[in-house]
Amino acid sequence: MRLKVLITREVFDEVLEYLSQYFEVTSNQSDIPMNPETLAMRLSDKQGALITLSDRIDTALLSRCPNLKAVCNIAVGYNNIDLEACTKAKVMATNTPGVLDDTTGDFTWALILATTRRLTEAEAYLRADQWDGWKLKQFLGLDVHHATLGIFGLGRIGQVVARRAVGFEMKVIYHDIRQAAPEIEQMCRASFVNKDELLAQSDIVTLHVPYSSATHHLIGKQELEKMKPTAILINASRGGVVDDAALIAALHSGIIAGAGLDVFENEPKLNPGFLELKNVVLAPHIASSSKATRFKMAMLAAQNLVAVLTTGHPPNLLNPF
Ligand code: 8YV
Repeated sequence: MRLKVLITREVFDEVLEYLSQYFEVTSNQSDIPMNPETLAMRLSDKQGALITLSDRIDTALLSRCPNLKAVCNIAVGYNNIDLEACTKAKVMATNTPGVLDDTTGDFTWALILATTRRLTEAEAYLRADQWDGWKLKQFLGLDVHHATLGIFGLGRIGQVVARRAVGFEMKVIYHDIRQAAPEIEQMCRASFVNKDELLAQSDIVTLHVPYSSATHHLIGKQELEKMKPTAILINASRGGVVDDAALIAALHSGIIAGAGLDVFENEPKLNPGFLELKNVVLAPHIASSSKATRFKMAMLAAQNLVAVLTTGHPPNLLNPF
């Protein structure tokens, strides 16, 4: 008898074909997000699942899926999965590290440049047919070249962002829970500073930490007040790392100059305060979304799923077994 797997969202045909060689596949090519009840019902008789960040895997769900052996995230972040609950339920959880670092790093730079140079604000002005001619002081922005870039989290993606800064001849500083190895610091031309130094010295603060209880509201009112009034904040990590309400207040009152955001608390519902602000560049969680990278992510997640259910040794296992 073939094992049964569920793919919770639309995937590339090649991924569907690959998984169909091994399993009886139920897919959601119509791409309608499942609420927790529907997910539990559809997973109840499955051995494996290919999931995304909006699928919450917790004790309540696992208790309704007695046959489940594998939950394979199409994402490097895995804050949607309760790993302890998975281990207790003897379910292997996997993610997709590595394949999205460059693409996510590139998009971080798109946010940095769009925010410092007020690109979306200027485009909206043009689209609204408001341009009545060149002005010396029109849309004055912040220079990226020779500025100080402060990176929170010098992991894989943080390192990519740092390496891209060389072309802009920037000073790069970083903070992390522990100092990186000297060869990594050298490759990134980045110096370790404490959290307060990073906030106070950076012209651009960019976040590249995973979301957990330890990083919840890593940037809140107090931290924003420690930043320069001319500085900008970039978040392409996870919603919840920033206190959105505090950020909106800081952007309103000029505590900081701007923000570029790909992720939000309570996605996909945006705090409406963001929409009223001109000094924020907003994107719908697309930092990893190049065609090539999203394909690699989905394929790697599928390979993890096949590995769990065939050999029991997936390349990207997250929980101890
Ligand atoms: C994904 C991400 O697109 O990998 C991650 O952790 O945030 C993005 O690259 C997203 O999580 C889709 O599940």
